[in-house]
Amino acid sequence: MNTTKTPVQPWPTTVALRVQVAVLLLITLPLWWLISYTHITVPGFAMALCHGTVAAAVTAVRLPSAPWWTLLQAVFPMAVVIGITIPLSPSVWLGAFVVLWLVNRNTLHERIPLYCSGRLVPQALEGILPCGSFRFVDLGCGLGGVLARLRQTYPQSHFEGVESAPLPWLIAWLRLLRYRNCRVRWGNFWTISLAEYQVVYCFLSPEPMPRLWSKVCAELRPGACLISNTFAIPQAPPPDHILHPPGSSGPLYVWRMTAAPCGCGC
Ligand SMILES: C[S@@+](CC[C@H](N)C(=O)[O-])C[C@H]1O[C@@H](n2cnc3c(N)ncnc32)[C@H](O)[C@@H]1O
Repeated sequence: MNTTKTPVQPWPTTVALRVQVAVLLLITLPLWWLISYTHITVPGFAMALCHGTVAAAVTAVRLPSAPWWTLLQAVFPMAVVIGITIPLSPSVWLGAFVVLWLVNRNTLHERIPLYCSGRLVPQALEGILPCGSFRFVDLGCGLGGVLARLRQTYPQSHFEGVESAPLPWLIAWLRLLRYRNCRVRWGNFWTISLAEYQVVYCFLSPEPMPRLWSKVCAELRPGACLISNTFAIPQAPPPDHILHPPGSSGPLYVWRMTAAPCGCGC
């Protein structure tokens, strides 16, 4: 068991939520209360617009590097007002929330949502995977699509997926349960050692890539390779291969580990 320690980043989601609550308590509710004494009727949309504008302005100062949060903060109160006006049973909202949580549970802190590799990605990988048997791991395997396709082409090799969101994990686990050369674990890929794998595949987001590179440098054996779908690693040396599978959201970056990988500070 190996854990790679890196400085903990503040979660933008919690910053955004705190800003919304602070604006609600310090500005919107007192304003609403004052207006109620004047007997003037202010539509909920106008209050939401006012709230969203203040929240967006504060967010632009607190999270200047993530402009999309400013936009989200501006439209969030309006979405709440619209949601309240839609005549749906609370259980529908609760159900939608639970499903979203089961799929995106770790997006809050990992900032890696679920999206699947293109259908032709496994085919493109075939050009660079080892000839003999090997151990392959998909870090954050989602619905297990990459594993399901590769295990057919390489019946002698071993395919593992690690997934921490409950619903995708369950789907991948059920999908690959009957294949002896596949295993899907429910867990956090930061806590597993990569030393036993010859091929590490991932399709994550820009956020974890520097930390992943440190982990890979510390744990992968010489000759093993890291394949990142779409997301390059600025701290890493230039990739050994860059593949462009048709229909993929981005290139596949391939780094082959040498005895002393350069540029990773290890
Ligand atoms: C973009 S999806 C990629 C799915 C799959 N690898 C594919 O290529 O089709 C990333 C997945 O990583 C999972 N994930 C994010 N952080 C994780 C972590 N620390 N441990 C395990 N899985 C994680 C997410 O739940 C999500 O399902």
